[in-house]
Amino acid sequence: MDIPKGYERMFALVTEVPKRNSNPALLEIGCGEHGHFVDYMRQQGWDTVGLDNREPLSQFVSRGDASKLRDVFGDKLFDLVLANQVLGYAPMTNDLIGVGRDEFAWIKAALLCHAGPDIKKDLDNMVKDLIKKILGSTFQQLSPDGLLIACGSDAIFEQNYFTQSEAEAVGYHVIDFKPSEAVLQKPR
Ligand SMILES: C[S@@+](CC[C@H](N)C(=O)[O-])C[C@H]1O[C@@H](n2cnc3c(N)ncnc32)[C@H](O)[C@@H]1O
Repeated sequence: MDIPKGYERMFALVTEVPKRNSNPALLEIGCGEHGHFVDYMRQQGWDTVGLDNREPLSQFVSRGDASKLRDVFGDKLFDLVLANQVLGYAPMTNDLIGVGRDEFAWIKAALLCHAGPDIKKDLDNMVKDLIKKILGSTFQQLSPDGLLIACGSDAIFEQNYFTQSEAEAVGYHVIDFKPSEAVLQKPR
């Protein structure tokens, strides 16, 4: 099995992290219904599960909201939480307005293109707010010293849509911060 397309950089980042224990627990949020990368990591011997708000098509993917991880995982802690092309503006906007999910997707996308500045600002705030909640929810679910790795891509709309100071405000120690990738640590 090859690295699923679009996950090359994420895989490099994950494998750069020194394993602190022999069997680290990994959670991928927004892994898609199939959880291809979850399967790939499991095949590589990592104890990995995934979560998506779409109907899961894999036994290793749970359905749930990344901003409410406790509802799905309770007190379980993870050593690594991964988000690949999830915490960017475009993926979150698409998710909020349901683009790509139903027969009205193209109408919603067209309406958004023509929306006035007030609507765009409201949407912007909703996306920022949701991402902030997700950062808080992953923080809660990480073990001390655990890492959240967020990757976008080189495409401008898939850059991570939070700032270094927003991550710090949640409590994270920022290990690395670039427009399209961030490595954040929950302090001990
Ligand atoms: C752009 S896709 C990326 C999918 C996959 N990670 C990849 O890189 O190919 C964003 C994914 O995040 C999921 N998602 C968006 N918002 C979510 C939320 N609040 N909770 C859980 N999953 C979410 C979507 O259903 C979708 O599968």
